Amino acid sequence: MSKQEPYLAALRFRWLTPFYDRVVSVLLREEPLKRSLLRQARIEDGHRVLDVGCGTGTLTLMAQREYKGALVFGVDGDLETLALARRKALATDTPLYACAALAQDLPFPDATFDRVVSSLFFHHLTRPGKKAVLRAIGAVLSPEGELHILDWGKAQDLLMRILFVLVQLLDGFETTADSVRGRLVGLLREAGFTQVEETHRERSILGTLSLYRAAAAGDAGKPV
Ligand SMILES: C[S@@+](CC[C@H](N)C(=O)[O-])C[C@H]1O[C@@H](n2cnc3c(N)ncnc32)[C@H](O)[C@@H]1O
Repeated sequence: MSKQEPYLAALRFRWLTPFYDRVVSVLLREEPLKRSLLRQARIEDGHRVLDVGCGTGTLTLMAQREYKGALVFGVDGDLETLALARRKALATDTPLYACAALAQDLPFPDATFDRVVSSLFFHHLTRPGKKAVLRAIGAVLSPEGELHILDWGKAQDLLMRILFVLVQLLDGFETTADSVRGRLVGLLREAGFTQVEETHRERSILGTLSLYRAAAAGDAGKPV
């Protein structure tokens, strides 16, 4: 990711961060979608799981609660959202292993994780940013690891395209363009992931949301 990569907070403006959870849960089918993402990831006992761009920790905490035999880590670049995540962890008595870091510079040794999950994060990144983050994820995934993403997807029709303009006005047109044009699958393949597919697509009042699955490149894809 270049030094010029803009940093987009959860709802773009930091003063909106305290309202993030409420906004997302009211406007999107947040819980069922995040549950579907975790089901798709087939997390097993003993797995190490990383939630990239974990924000207020909804997905991280859900994963840790549902899969007690797994060790779930969250990473986000914004200390304020991480503070909200910690508050939620305390309130629900759920262990939270989270740290502040940029997703293009993940502070973990290569091949640490069996699963990487991420929700509503990739549309915060420019194209070079997405490529840098996918490289970083590819490095920390084990050769048999998998990446599972929930994010804005290719607009199914004109109505979904028009509604998505609201997201673009908030989060910016450059970072969201790849999502609405359906380019994430291509970017995942270019980054060396295999078995890449969009597994689900659904309408929301802010546009189309998609789930994606990708497998790590295996040993062949790891830097020597
Ligand atoms: C829309 S929020 C999504 C949060 C959470 N994953 C969810 O599903 O609710 C996007 C998050 O990405 C984080 N973020 C943006 N750019 C980042 C980067 N380069 N590295 C790490 N986190 C980043 C923001 O701080 C924010 O918390």
